[in-house]
Amino acid sequence: MERTESRNIPWIIKYRPRTLKEVIGNKEGIRKVVEWLKSWEAGPPKKRALLIYGPPGVGKTVAVEAASRDLNLELIESNASDYRRNSDIKSFAGLASQYSTLTGRRRVILLDEIDGISGSIDRGGLKAILSVIENTRCPIVLTANEIFDPRFLPLRDRCLLIEFKRPSVREIVSHLRRICLLEGIEADEQALRYIAEKCNGDVRSALNDLQAAAQGLTRLTMEDVLWLGYRNRKEDIFKVLRTIFYSKDCITVKQAVDRTDLDLDMLFEWIYENVPYHFDSPFELSEAMEALALADLYRKRIGKTQSWSLLRYVIDLMTAGVALSRVGRTGRWVPFRFPQRIKLLSSTKKSRELLSKIGSRIGEKCHVSSRVAVRDILPYLRVIFQNDRKSAEGLARWLELDKAMVRYILES
Ligand SMILES: Nc1ncnc2c1ncn2[C@@H]1O[C@H](COP(=O)(O)OP(=O)(O)OP(=O)(O)O)[C@@H](O)[C@H]1O
Ligand SMILES: [Mg+2]
Repeated sequence: MERTESRNIPWIIKYRPRTLKEVIGNKEGIRKVVEWLKSWEAGPPKKRALLIYGPPGVGKTVAVEAASRDLNLELIESNASDYRRNSDIKSFAGLASQYSTLTGRRRVILLDEIDGISGSIDRGGLKAILSVIENTRCPIVLTANEIFDPRFLPLRDRCLLIEFKRPSVREIVSHLRRICLLEGIEADEQALRYIAEKCNGDVRSALNDLQAAAQGLTRLTMEDVLWLGYRNRKEDIFKVLRTIFYSKDCITVKQAVDRTDLDLDMLFEWIYENVPYHFDSPFELSEAMEALALADLYRKRIGKTQSWSLLRYVIDLMTAGVALSRVGRTGRWVPFRFPQRIKLLSSTKKSRELLSKIGSRIGEKCHVSSRVAVRDILPYLRVIFQNDRKSAEGLARWLELDKAMVRYILES
């Protein structure tokens, strides 16, 4: 398989299956797709269109692309934006009226994401699609997430329906493992499992998460993926960030923030972490950081004075303020990174908890606060523990420290 070395390529594209062998899950659905496509060799079958439906990111589009490559069919692809109007559809109706191309290669037409058609103007569009299906001389495949809208009833009648389900966690894990191998990353099974479980069967988002967590590493551990647990899936954080960084219109940017119920502090960390990678020019970067610094000042002020009326300035500055810093255009694709400050906090959570327990044990016996115990007493205790085993044993007993605490004092 041809792989480019470029760093800035989304893995969902880099590892987009080229043949059916590389498409994971839905074996039965894929078998039916192939069987139906092949049945055209004996002339148009009873159902001249196929409607593949299922949740996002499970491989509907790639399955059709890979199948046509495997069967050596010419694929003509279009998506919702191409068939908003009746007249748009007429253009591919012409293509559908011929069984093969001039070179004799047979063709298949893919109308991707037909549930993207919405509203009244599209009623005409839907009708036109039905008429194309009726008269087509080559196979037509449609895909959709949701087909139970009554509008689609006539379409459901006219098509062979194939449901694509979410691939299993096991299948997704082995897909991710294969990609790690190709990227030269040694990945812990547990970490890959965590990504696969969190993605809810969406292979696209599993791959995006893997790239965000693992790109540039040689080893992927549970610690590198724990942050996935902090993220809410309601509105993909990557989408929100992309809107904030690349949109020029403040209203869209602010709306994107409304759509996420991500904690504002967490969103701030995401923006802060990623701004330097997405703003190339020093001028834009300094403007964006300036906006963030100001937002941070307001944020701290709210913390001190509880003046929540300042919150809108925080939001405006960290979103629209950042968005407006962009002067030029950038076409580069850069992966988003998880905020390192949060990652550090989550990876040190256990040891911080242990430290605070040790602090309170010492504090109780010495009648000081646990903060003072950690700051003023623990360093001396450490010296004793590391040099005088006998005294250490006595002290540990007196302070009621368990084995983990003793190890922490000795090793940290
Ligand atoms: N079953 C799969 N096997 C391998 N890769 C997959 C699979 N499903 C999705 N992917 C990855 O996710 C990306 C998106 O897949 P695809 O476009 O086929 O999803 P879809 O089901 O059509 O989603 P949507 O409903 O959003 O259109 C692909 O480029 C590929 O990298
Ligand atoms: Mg698709």
